[in-house]
Amino acid sequence: MKKFFIISAVAVLSVFLIAAGKSEKIAHYELSRFLSPDVCGGCHSEIYEQWKGSLHHLSLKDQIYLAVAQDGLKGITLADELAEAESCQKCHVPMGYISGYPKKMSDDITKIEEPAKQGVQCDYCHSITGAYKDYNAHYNYEPGNGYDNPGVKRGPFKDSVTDFHKTAYSEFHTKSEICGTCHNVKHVVYGTWLETTYEEWEASPYKKQGVQCQSCHMYQRPGHPATGSTPREKNPGVAAYGGPERDHIFTHYFVGANTIIPATEKDKVRVKMGEERLKNAVDLKIDGKLSGDDIIIRIINNGAGHDVPTGVSNIRQVWLKVIVKDARGKVVYKSGVPDKKGHIDDNAVTFGTVFGDGKGNPVGNLAKAKEILRDKRLKPMQEHVAKIKLSAGGDRFTVEAAVMYSLISQKEADSLKQLKGIKIKPVVMKEIKVAVAK
Ligand code: HEC
Ligand code: HEC
Ligand code: HEC
Ligand code: HEC
Ligand code: HEC
Repeated sequence: MKKFFIISAVAVLSVFLIAAGKSEKIAHYELSRFLSPDVCGGCHSEIYEQWKGSLHHLSLKDQIYLAVAQDGLKGITLADELAEAESCQKCHVPMGYISGYPKKMSDDITKIEEPAKQGVQCDYCHSITGAYKDYNAHYNYEPGNGYDNPGVKRGPFKDSVTDFHKTAYSEFHTKSEICGTCHNVKHVVYGTWLETTYEEWEASPYKKQGVQCQSCHMYQRPGHPATGSTPREKNPGVAAYGGPERDHIFTHYFVGANTIIPATEKDKVRVKMGEERLKNAVDLKIDGKLSGDDIIIRIINNGAGHDVPTGVSNIRQVWLKVIVKDARGKVVYKSGVPDKKGHIDDNAVTFGTVFGDGKGNPVGNLAKAKEILRDKRLKPMQEHVAKIKLSAGGDRFTVEAAVMYSLISQKEADSLKQLKGIKIKPVVMKEIKVAVAK
């Protein structure tokens, strides 16, 4: 009971803060003050090529994003819910948002100007000076004034010089906080945590070890997945034409788990990099002895610096595919095996989140999310045990199990008009085959 009062007190307090937040003045920056990535690419060509294929660059073009966001506006009438459903472009077109267009999801995207169209980009990140809240892109900025006066570009070096722009060392850029302020998403009115990658990292052993988002995501390059379970080797080179040789240049591929959008862009290198990341994220073990009638499957997130799945974990589909055969090779149990349509059965063990409407009913639309009904995400460096009950007779079995990843379930993709016909190919994160006895 006491706990309930504390929770409701917190709820009242957050409503008050949000009410206060509504009058919060968002600073405005003229779009003409920012430079196009194409200008930066003139000297930082390698970094530019890496970033160009990233979901940061494609954050507005991304069909999965557009399909979900446009669908999210449908049938919303409550002002509080509309405020959330309209809030998406703040992070997906951040330079546009702070320069005045688009402010809303329903704004015409064909009217978004250059370079705002180019998503999460060079001059946006490198004009950031800090953050005043650790969620919903609450950054402070100090951009330059166009081509003739590009201003200060902030980064990891203390001795960086160029004739073109000023440079400054920024500790903020070397820490998870710069990523986390966007990779932490709260419902703008209800305050429900919708995405918590930064929070998850903060609670993980990686924070204590000083392993930042950048330590994995800005060390990756083809053939070097740079995860918690693989080496994170330095990437020596130069940051720009004419720049000095340095022992590490932070890469800008920003690969996560997305292999579908890169595939639609015919970017084979990045599809492979996404697979390399996913295949080094979890470990899987099966006990050789049954526990009663149960097969014991152990899953450990040993590669991600946050939960698996993270981010939009209500959309991501992570699950166990299990096939059990008896001594004669006959299948006696299966679950999580996709059917011809790519759909999986309700018995499958799944990992992720389900939001609720505040009254215990599940909701798909983020705008209606008032609570987290179910949270089954794999926490970093923790073991998760799944039990599969066998009803078949016999005392010797072979168990084939796999941890599978889909960016969005095929069922949900099929239900969205814009994604009709897109095949969501799952990635096998880890698979094993083990003999099990009573
Ligand atoms: C005319 C060439 C040129 C252009 C154009 C250019 N840069 Fe640079 N930039 C350099 C050079 C050279 C360095 C020094 C590299 C080093 O120190 O290793 C540099 C350094 C940097 C640094 C490191 C700063 C630090 O102190 O850590 C950042 C960040 C940066 N540039 C961002 C940008 C961005 C963003 C753009 C586009 C808005 C841009 N640059 C355009 C040449 C250029
Ligand atoms: C999502 C934000 C983000 C975007 C977009 C981004 N950068 Fe960076 N960049 C960073 C961060 C953070 C670092 C420093 C990482 C660290 O020190 O841990 C960095 C480092 C750099 C550096 C220093 C050299 C290095 O790589 O170590 C340069 C130069 C640079 N970026 C240029 C660019 C250019 C050019 C673009 C666009 C093509 C770009 N950045 C896009 C966040 C970003
Ligand atoms: C301005 C907000 C913003 C900042 C700052 C930002 N991100 Fe992102 N990031 C996004 C958005 C939006 C997406 C999703 C784009 C999409 O999928 O449409 C994304 C996607 C990603 C992905 C997923 C790509 C995939 O393949 O699934 C990774 C990894 C990532 N960001 C890492 C980082 C790291 C590391 C930093 C800090 C150096 C950072 N981000 C800073 C907004 C941001
Ligand atoms: C120890 C290495 C490591 C660290 C630290 C790390 N990540 Fe990741 N990240 C991974 C791995 C491995 C994956 C692929 C598995 C997955 O999707 O969770 C991943 C996936 C992602 C994805 C895509 C997730 C999805 O399912 O769409 C995003 C976004 C992301 N990371 C952002 C971040 C941000 C932001 C931080 C810092 C707060 C961070 N990561 C810290 C290793 C790391
Ligand atoms: C505070 C910043 C922020 C806001 C606001 C935001 N997003 Fe995102 N969004 C992100 C980040 C960061 C990612 C990458 C996370 C990941 O890959 O798991 C992302 C990824 C996504 C994806 C996955 C795209 C893919 O290719 O798999 C969808 C869908 C999405 N967002 C929908 C929305 C919708 C709809 C809204 C508005 C209701 C919204 N987002 C508002 C930051 C934001």
